[in-house]
Amino acid sequence: MSSVGVAPLLATVAAAVSEAIERVRPELAGADPVVRRSDRADFQSNAALPLAKKYGLKPGDLAGELAEQLTAEGSTAPVAAAVPSGPGFLNITLTDSVVWSRIADRLADPRLGIAEAAAGQRIVIDYSAPNVAKEMHVGHLRTTIIGDSLARVLGFLGADIVRANHLGDWGTQFGMLIQYIDEHPDQPWRTDDLADGSSVSALDSLYKAARAAFDADPAFADRSRARVVALQNGDEPTVASWNEIVAESEKAFGAIYDRLGVLLTPEDYTGESFYNPLLADTVTELLDKGVAIHSDGAVVIASDTVTGPDGDPAVLMARKSDGGYGYDSTDLATIRYRITELSADRLLYVTDSRQALHFQLVFEAARRAGWLTDTVTVDHVAYGTILGPDGKPFKTRAGGTVRLMDLLDDAVAAARAVVADKNPDLPADQLDAIAEQAGIGAVKYADLSTSRVKDYTFDPQRMTAFGGNTGVYLQYAHARMCSILRRAGEPLAVTVDTTATIEPAERALALTLDDYGTVVTDVATTLEPHRLAGYLYELARAFTTFYDTCPVIGAPEPTRSNRLAVCQLAARTLAHGLGLLGIAAPARL
Ligand code: ARG
Repeated sequence: MSSVGVAPLLATVAAAVSEAIERVRPELAGADPVVRRSDRADFQSNAALPLAKKYGLKPGDLAGELAEQLTAEGSTAPVAAAVPSGPGFLNITLTDSVVWSRIADRLADPRLGIAEAAAGQRIVIDYSAPNVAKEMHVGHLRTTIIGDSLARVLGFLGADIVRANHLGDWGTQFGMLIQYIDEHPDQPWRTDDLADGSSVSALDSLYKAARAAFDADPAFADRSRARVVALQNGDEPTVASWNEIVAESEKAFGAIYDRLGVLLTPEDYTGESFYNPLLADTVTELLDKGVAIHSDGAVVIASDTVTGPDGDPAVLMARKSDGGYGYDSTDLATIRYRITELSADRLLYVTDSRQALHFQLVFEAARRAGWLTDTVTVDHVAYGTILGPDGKPFKTRAGGTVRLMDLLDDAVAAARAVVADKNPDLPADQLDAIAEQAGIGAVKYADLSTSRVKDYTFDPQRMTAFGGNTGVYLQYAHARMCSILRRAGEPLAVTVDTTATIEPAERALALTLDDYGTVVTDVATTLEPHRLAGYLYELARAFTTFYDTCPVIGAPEPTRSNRLAVCQLAARTLAHGLGLLGIAAPARL
């Protein structure tokens, strides 16, 4: 059942309407049944209007014919009522029994009836990608959270995911840093030499000092340049320092990943340095193919499609005039490697929108080089900026970059206050654990529920509110579902009586639950997790209405069992959906 999945009710209705169209007007076979959810009935078909127009029929007549066909004796469509309305709409209500049996089918499947729609695809997701010797800051939050959610969604749909953490671990800045460290042995930066153990923050300061020295002291600048050459030529002590710096930084990134609960592991670190041995070859190939050209000693790729503000073609720097390679070179070698060596079917790059032009040019070059063909899809998954309370890009009060760890601390502190307020008797250790899950979940939900391309304001109080569209609200809704199930007595094996009638609030919730797979597949196509976030919020609200109007535990059989089944499917769907967003769903909050 798993790979095929349980058909969504919407698909069942669409198939029934298609069949009806073919029966009443064989010449219209294959027309779009135009079915969607409706607040007048379960579903609505708007097929009659455009079809009637095209074939000179009266829309109302055609809708009437379809309605008759759908409810005719001998029809296999699970339709209880089909009522033409307005200028040619068709309102369709399903039988109670088909709604119940879908609930039962989804409950019986560990995958909730969702097919592995992306099976057989290899998808490389480039995300997080912090820079070595620098602390992760607010700018790395969105890529890490969004990339992680997409990895979870596409992975759940059966794709083979390559998580590519494209660390900034290479470049001329390391010559400067290593040289500075070498000349200042008195300044500690190794975890073992530090009292508080924050190596990357020490490195970050040393890096800033190195840059200042580089700019102020030409002799130091020369020694730094020589260090870059030493690093590139594999000089042993230089490479050893570099390795140590990378390892210390990776430890710090790992601490953030652990706290965020993202899927990234040390195996996923494939930094820029990984592509270093491939750069020269890549540039040669681009020159041979006539994609890149020599220009003033450099090797560049001039765009066929994009022009800069001066009217000249926008340019990628494949090799600099000093013979060095930079960010552009690395991304060219990277895309080539991912397509030709990793055999990727789909490439995603999760970075902020400011890199849109860069990726547009890289994709264009890859296409011209013949690496990127029609069998490979590539997307720059762009996102907007996180804003501070003043509505400007988030900075510390002093105007510096905000450390990611500090941001998470703030959110967890806000969540702690909210949870403590709700549960005054909670022991401190439990409170800490729940606050951590709620705080981190709140940060992720605030991000993922915002349309990707939009900016949003980082506001810990608002993010952790119990009411409103927040992660905490959804976690709380899930905990409430769990509490009902606990009261019913676990382990719970409920059987669904498909002959029972279904109340309106129950039906609304059931139809929403049935939609889950469609939404998940939609996220995979559009790469927009906010669609899933929005769905989960609707689900939580539909559950609240159900809970307020349909008693569960005290209801007579078979109502009790059927409602418990609905609660169970709701809890599993909500927990699963939060899981795909990377958010914990604790059983108690
Ligand atoms: N390290 C870069 C940054 O911090 C992001 C790298 C994104 N990935 C890529 N393949 N260019 O901005």
